[in-house]
Amino acid sequence: MKNVTTVAHPLVQHKLTLLRDKTTSTKDFRQLLREIATLLCYEVTRDLSLAPKHIETPMMPMEASVLAGKKLVFAPILRAGMGFIEGMLDLVPSARVAHVGLYRDPQSLTAVEYYFKSPSDLSERLVIVIDPMLATGNTAVAAVDRLKEHGATDLRLVCLLATPVGIANLHGRHPDVPVWTAAVDAELNDHGYILPGLGDAGDRLYGTR
Ligand code: URA
Repeated sequence: MKNVTTVAHPLVQHKLTLLRDKTTSTKDFRQLLREIATLLCYEVTRDLSLAPKHIETPMMPMEASVLAGKKLVFAPILRAGMGFIEGMLDLVPSARVAHVGLYRDPQSLTAVEYYFKSPSDLSERLVIVIDPMLATGNTAVAAVDRLKEHGATDLRLVCLLATPVGIANLHGRHPDVPVWTAAVDAELNDHGYILPGLGDAGDRLYGTR
């Protein structure tokens, strides 16, 4: 699938199976989501540019490498994105955060915005959108629409599970946004839930079912 990276790392796949398992407790779901997010963050940042930096070790001066450019922006889509971002911030603690409050209308499955707050200089930063469940793709499309309206031009999307339909929807509107995911599941049910999926990520994360 073009512009989609499925992360086959054994630790990612193991943790994903535990997340899918309906007997996994809320506490364990939260911990696993954080851990898998760290691993996915490692993959989505794998090709970031480096710049040289002159430092002195206790032994001698050297030309070392640091991340080039401005700090990253993580843009979690509320609410499930919040469980994901902690694991990404564990790896990139200086990243900026753009909160995108969107929910899916249960009837129309369209995305409804209720909150948006981002750094003002999105145009100068790589923005990594965090949408744990790329189901219909409507929420991801709406989030990227908003981030682009606010100046973002360099975007990536990271999710736990995607569907072919969700990816097609996102890339139909935003072909410039590559996707990293732990798996691409087969289909959606009539309520827009991913099959086999893992259920409602927000409910499982916060125990609200
Ligand atoms: N959102 C979820 O939390 N789960 C799905 O299966 C689809 C969308």
